[in-house]
Amino acid sequence: MKKILIMNGPNLNLLGTREPEKYGTTTLADLEVMCQKQAADMGYEVEFFQSNYEGALVEKIHEAGKAYKAGQLKGVVFNPGAYTHTSIALHDAIVGVGGLPVIETHISNVHARESFRHHSYISPAAAGIIVGCGVYGYIAAMHVLANRA
Ligand code: DQA
Repeated sequence: MKKILIMNGPNLNLLGTREPEKYGTTTLADLEVMCQKQAADMGYEVEFFQSNYEGALVEKIHEAGKAYKAGQLKGVVFNPGAYTHTSIALHDAIVGVGGLPVIETHISNVHARESFRHHSYISPAAAGIIVGCGVYGYIAAMHVLANRA
């Protein structure tokens, strides 16, 4: 059974209580349950990973790159949080592992928010981008990965 990795970056552990008008009231644990159900329906396994540390996220991308090459992983749904707008290291990690499909996913519509959220270092390295669909963006991203050749 192939796996989909769902990665969340800084402050996403606060989902549910963090600025609910922007990010909703679904907690990260609720989101994990939603994604687990979706994965089961699609015949996939899901791994959930959240970190507030850039280096930990870089290392998880390296690990995912190896699993992808070994045919054990279908791809990554990645919400890099604020590192989206700052992290050349995460961009380089995705490019550096070579070919790993990453669907960059944001709960809020970053383009309708502050201008510093309009630029993403991740987007040029991503296979696809889902923005502003709330937590359902993760489910959409899982569909995208499952249906990729
Ligand atoms: C976010 C948008 C980012 O700008 C912000 O820093 C986040 C969450 C989103 O999911 O909408 O932490 O990635």
